[in-house]
Amino acid sequence: MAKVTIIGQGYVGLTIASFAANHHTVSGFDNRADIVENLNAGKSHIEGVASSLLAQHIQNKSYVAICDPSSLAGAEIVVIAVPTPLDEDRKPDLSYLESACRVIGENLTTPALIINESTSFPGTVRDYIKPTVEKFSKNKIEHLYSVSPERVDPGREDWNQKNTPRLYAGLTTEASDKTRDFYSTFCDQLVEVSSPEVAEAAKLFENTFRQVNIALVNEFAVISNSLGISVNETLQAANTKPYGFMKFTPSAGVGGHCIPVDPSYLSYAANQKGISASFIDLANQVNLDMPKYVVNRVEADNGGSLKGKAVQVIGVAYKPNVADVRETPAQLVIEELKSRGATVSWHDPIVVKWSGESSQPLGGSQIAVLVTRHSIFQAAELLASAPYIFDTTGTLEGAVKL
Ligand SMILES: NC(=O)c1ccc[n+]([C@@H]2O[C@H](COP(=O)([O-])OP(=O)(O)OC[C@H]3O[C@@H](n4cnc5c(N)ncnc54)[C@H](O)[C@@H]3O)[C@@H](O)[C@H]2O)c1
Repeated sequence: MAKVTIIGQGYVGLTIASFAANHHTVSGFDNRADIVENLNAGKSHIEGVASSLLAQHIQNKSYVAICDPSSLAGAEIVVIAVPTPLDEDRKPDLSYLESACRVIGENLTTPALIINESTSFPGTVRDYIKPTVEKFSKNKIEHLYSVSPERVDPGREDWNQKNTPRLYAGLTTEASDKTRDFYSTFCDQLVEVSSPEVAEAAKLFENTFRQVNIALVNEFAVISNSLGISVNETLQAANTKPYGFMKFTPSAGVGGHCIPVDPSYLSYAANQKGISASFIDLANQVNLDMPKYVVNRVEADNGGSLKGKAVQVIGVAYKPNVADVRETPAQLVIEELKSRGATVSWHDPIVVKWSGESSQPLGGSQIAVLVTRHSIFQAAELLASAPYIFDTTGTLEGAVKL
């Protein structure tokens, strides 16, 4: 049993905390006091982490949420799980990582194992995290460093922290061994790679693989429609091939903190070496063009103009059954509809509040656009919600399909 501090209590940090607290004493550090207060009251804000489990850990004294950085003193293992977004120029924004390194450097009093789970480009642990922690460490404490990229898919039940194989590598053998010992208390399969850079690159490539394939299938949806062929039937047909094909489904675009963001970390790393990442950049553009394509189709089906028409966007989370709206393509669909003069409302009983607006009751518009289909949505209710419904998910029989 180790004294573990997890920096960042969001999707990744709280999920790991909930597993690790079965075996270790876990402090969940977050710089948002409201999050810390709710967590200590046993209220989880993350799908997949039940409030009852959190309350149980708190009662057992195996978990506490903390906001005071000085509470890091004495931690034996520190896991970094803070955001790694893009800045305005779509370049890596390491400001959250920097502030996590500062908290570690200034507050750890004894040598610890520092593991990075935040997604970033190859070299982040070696060339950024270690020197930044050392810069802020007054007593020049020698810590161990490793990386173990997170693969959690929030809301997913079949693959979780326990049964999803986990990559890891340390800057030293001792760091690798201690990282394996920590995760093997709650993960079934640990996969050691030869360097942190390989683990960091593997994580980026996993999400780039998805981004590029989603873009390819989105482009194929546009092509299929122009040829008068059903994209969904065609994909089902192709998917009968038992090898060499993997089915991706078309959509209004990609969202979340990973697929629209991580490939740009890889592209940045390539650009730093003078190499262009054309596939990544093109895939980005194809996915970003999808909302416009969706609205073009809706407009063409509705007399060639959306001016003054009431449109409801159904499902604004970036994927089914979660409340996460980060980078959601619904935002771009709404903006595009508005730019063409439509009066737009949205309905999402899981998201409830978003951008200062509230989810509206389902129905009451002339046109509906289904962007994300949560499993609580009933087909009959969706179909009855508007005289015309455009389905970007390919799942609603009876609606106009992408
Ligand atoms: N969400 C996912 O599905 C997923 C999957 C794999 C990897 N990742 C990666 O994991 C990392 C974290 O993502 P997330 O989805 O958990 O983010 P998140 O926004 O859900 O949570 C991050 C938390 O960190 C806190 N925070 C930010 N800076 C802090 C600091 N300096 N000190 C303490 N707390 C701080 C925030 O208040 C927030 O609660 C990112 O690098 C992301 O790319 C995310």
